[in-house]
Amino acid sequence: GAPTEVDISRIDNEPGMLVRAEWRGQPIFVFKRSERQIEALPGLEGRLADPASDNADFTPAWAKNQTRSLTPEIGVLVGICTHLGCVPLHRPEVQPQPWDANWQGGFFCPCHNSFYDLAGRVYQGMPAPDNLRVPPYRFVGDDVVLIG
Ligand code: FES
Repeated sequence: GAPTEVDISRIDNEPGMLVRAEWRGQPIFVFKRSERQIEALPGLEGRLADPASDNADFTPAWAKNQTRSLTPEIGVLVGICTHLGCVPLHRPEVQPQPWDANWQGGFFCPCHNSFYDLAGRVYQGMPAPDNLRVPPYRFVGDDVVLIG
């Protein structure tokens, strides 16, 4: 399939914003992380199923870092839950959950309640076994991401 261009000018100045695109029939999330959100990621490691993203099926080698991305501020993920394939919801704010009074926000799959952090890393004990997939992408301008 052809690569997909995503205009990110709309999210660039607004941490917490997300744009959706489609690539090879799959939903793609491109979103902006705030400084606070980036700083929260290391502290979550003990609670994640694969904090270092060791499963290469879901994380290319170049994205094996704290934010699972080329730049810390911009996240790019395939929006398909690794459990049974529902599309997770973007929930970027800190919000209490029954299993965590201080959830730092991320992605939530309502089909069977899987929670991911804002790097797309799944928490331990969720139905989803793996982190959200990082697709191949690159920046081709200040405000354009090319997926594929
Ligand atoms: Fe997402 Fe089951 S499909 S939790």
